[in-house]
Amino acid sequence: MIFPDYRPRRLRQNEAFRRMIRETVLTVDDLILPIFAINGKGVKNQILSLPGHYQLSIDNLSKIAKEAESLGIPALMIFGIPDKKDPLGTNAYARDGIVQTAVKELKNKYPDMVVITDVCLCQYTDHGHCGVVNGSTIDNDASLDLLAKTALSHAEAGADMVAPSDMMDGRVAEIRQTLDEKEYSHIPIMSYAAKYCSAYYGPFREAVHSAPRFGDRRTYQMDPANAVEAIREASMDAEEGADIIMVKPALPYLDIICRIREEIDLPVAAYNVSGEYAMIKAADKMGWMDGEKVMMETLISIKRAGADMILTYFALEAAKILRKQV
Ligand code: PBG
Ligand code: ZN
Repeated sequence: MIFPDYRPRRLRQNEAFRRMIRETVLTVDDLILPIFAINGKGVKNQILSLPGHYQLSIDNLSKIAKEAESLGIPALMIFGIPDKKDPLGTNAYARDGIVQTAVKELKNKYPDMVVITDVCLCQYTDHGHCGVVNGSTIDNDASLDLLAKTALSHAEAGADMVAPSDMMDGRVAEIRQTLDEKEYSHIPIMSYAAKYCSAYYGPFREAVHSAPRFGDRRTYQMDPANAVEAIREASMDAEEGADIIMVKPALPYLDIICRIREEIDLPVAAYNVSGEYAMIKAADKMGWMDGEKVMMETLISIKRAGADMILTYFALEAAKILRKQV
């Protein structure tokens, strides 16, 4: 069919037609809100590079959870900021650690909210790496036990799902086995499977003070130039027992989301990371772009690429807009 027999504009002439042929829909069900937990009472420290986001003590965290729940957002992802760091990141798997305490409180108050925990060591280690450091290298196999311990402690606190973000090889299998042995076989794993070594994590590292003290994360996070390798990572994690496969960041890696959606038969999550959020907020503040429109376009693009769910700092804002539309 070619012009003038076919005119694509016929089905674009009004909003009703456009709604009828719309291929992708974004709903509140797709959104997961990341939040930052810190010790104390009444603490609400603004994160400058993530405008609208804060390091929150547990009392204030509850308020955000309440708002998220009232908007219909199904899930939260918790990151912890501990008081103390040490070489083995012991606060990551402490029974009374910040994430464990936050999970308990949130599940107690909002039992229907899905509480996901980020499983990693970098916020808790004094060197800031995601695994155990041995000399100047990151010791893969020595890290597995600590990551599994961390995931188990989150499950014991009541987490509904654990999300390992460390990128050590074999950690999904280790976590699965540990959870199963301790009767947490019902707790799913959302694996940060294709996690790239990205400069887009800048604002996040400021938010949680997790920048590595030496070197970088290139020996464990993926090279931004690689796509086939992402399929390999995702397949491995699927075989090791992952329930949801995550791609991170989202916008610069839409091709990866698309390929993983086609090749892996598990739900796919995309993490619209801190730098993606910060760029839009900054341009909006400068008056260079309409931040709200760019936000909605970005989220629908991630969905169109194949993501079943999106972790995003825009969750509350986007949910408010989506609620108005229905
Ligand atoms: C920790 C972790 C990071 C993010 C999520 N978990 C940072 C990193 O790997 O350096 C990034 C989140 C964001 O930028 O929004 N492993
Ligand atoms: Zn980490």
